[in-house]
Amino acid sequence: MPRSRRLMRHAGIALLACLLAFAAEAQRVIEFEAYAVPDDGALAVTVKRGVPQEGAFAELDAAAGGALGRAAANAGFTGERGTMLNLHGLGGYTQVILVGTGEDPVSPRLLEDIGGLVGQAGVVSAAETIQLLWPDATIAGAGAHLALGVELGQYTFLQYRSQRPGQPVLGQGRVVVRVPQPQADGRLWTQSWQPVAQGVRLARDLVSEPANVVYPQSFVERARLAFEGVPNVRIEVLDERAMAELGMGAMLAVGQGSARPPRLLAIHYRGAAADEAPLVFVGKGITFDTGGISIKPSQDMWRMKYDMTGAASVTGAVLGLAKRRAPVNAVAVAALAENMPSGSAIRPGDVIRTMSGQTFEIMSTDAEGRMVLVDAITWAQRELKPAVLIDIATLTGSQVTALGDEYAGLFSRHDALAGQLLAAGAASGEEVWRLPLHPSYAKDLESPIADLRNGGSGRGAGAGVGAFFIGAWVAPELPWAHLDIASMAWRDAPLLPTVPLGASGYGVRLLDRFVRDNFEGGSR
Ligand code: BES
Ligand code: MN
Ligand code: ZN
Repeated sequence: MPRSRRLMRHAGIALLACLLAFAAEAQRVIEFEAYAVPDDGALAVTVKRGVPQEGAFAELDAAAGGALGRAAANAGFTGERGTMLNLHGLGGYTQVILVGTGEDPVSPRLLEDIGGLVGQAGVVSAAETIQLLWPDATIAGAGAHLALGVELGQYTFLQYRSQRPGQPVLGQGRVVVRVPQPQADGRLWTQSWQPVAQGVRLARDLVSEPANVVYPQSFVERARLAFEGVPNVRIEVLDERAMAELGMGAMLAVGQGSARPPRLLAIHYRGAAADEAPLVFVGKGITFDTGGISIKPSQDMWRMKYDMTGAASVTGAVLGLAKRRAPVNAVAVAALAENMPSGSAIRPGDVIRTMSGQTFEIMSTDAEGRMVLVDAITWAQRELKPAVLIDIATLTGSQVTALGDEYAGLFSRHDALAGQLLAAGAASGEEVWRLPLHPSYAKDLESPIADLRNGGSGRGAGAGVGAFFIGAWVAPELPWAHLDIASMAWRDAPLLPTVPLGASGYGVRLLDRFVRDNFEGGSR
């Protein structure tokens, strides 16, 4: 390793250590207590759409001589799902947060959305304790889903914001979830759902970090830290030398223009018998995508620090599985590289030989995600013999155009697997929409000098063509799905209470739900 690079690496590690020391995030601790209506303090209460009201709202309203109902009516608050009203100084209460639930039947997703709004309100509240009241015992484990929502909704990324003197510190203290069965719900939270929230938090942190902080090697270091002390986990890292020995021409090609060398990170979690084939999740981990020599316009280019969301999501998902000791074998594979233009960068027209032996011609150096993915997927098939392989990537602008902010694109040649992912999307709130892999996309990928080319004409189904390219490296019989999450990984406008603006951590909850519902003996 050249001296300059060694120095840079040391500087990077020092910087990382220093950042971690200051990474005290504003975040409320979640606790569980028996349902009761407190006499004072800050409360959060749900409101069904329309009248008459029942439960905690009715009780509070009666105690306040009808003032709560009048305040809601005067504010035009009707209890529509997803709405929230913040009242201050009503009766003996410093704050009453009303959360609308609409008329939908209570479901885990509704509970998470309620919690999400309370979490968001908690970020800007000066109250030390917010008590979230949920008297309804009809859904077992309701408190755990409320807590998951709070935890997801209260996410902020403030590492680089200084605390100004004289400004109050907000968003710290507690959220007390008051439910009929606090013990059982608390146990369910810590054993089963808090680990998932921790996975989402890790993914969001990795994505929020700028690309001068999170690059391939520092991503690896952060993953190591996150998994420290987590049992049944083995971490494997391939550097450039290992990649060269394996013939990973595509991983190396994308990384060759950057001063930050590429890495392939594999996190193996063993929760089942050693001979049970693993579930393998492969994530695109471009720590910054300039487009390379096919350079992107500078407008909004900053956001391309998010181009490693797939890698962050698979890492977070497996962290969740390992922390909640899911009875499965699973591996997260992160294909990490930085896509930069430079004197050593790849060019359009270059021909690359991949680990599988298959070659492709580069049409655009900006179609780099599919390049790193095919080597990672080849490695995963050879080394891991997966039962199922799902890759997840911020792959195309075309997916954004096709599906907007509401759905990720799902591509699969296996209807059963596609069905499982569609169901997991609906249940987790991280929704997917299936798009086709038409055989005619092959024509768009023909090259006169190589086996394929890495991009099509630029007209037509760009997300599908990208998916089709990846599929050319996947054994036809292997249940494989490709998730294009370009539109889902970063939020510019609010949509879901559990997803604050910025890095969404999309994919962690989807993959967790996919595993829970299909590979854990139908336990939940
Ligand atoms: N990381 C981008 C995908 C992307 C583009 C996400 C715009 C969000 C907004 C990806 O690497 C990319 O540049 N894809 C190209 C592919 C094309 C060159 C075949 C695209 O979608 O334009
Ligand atoms: Mn690109
Ligand atoms: Zn990209």
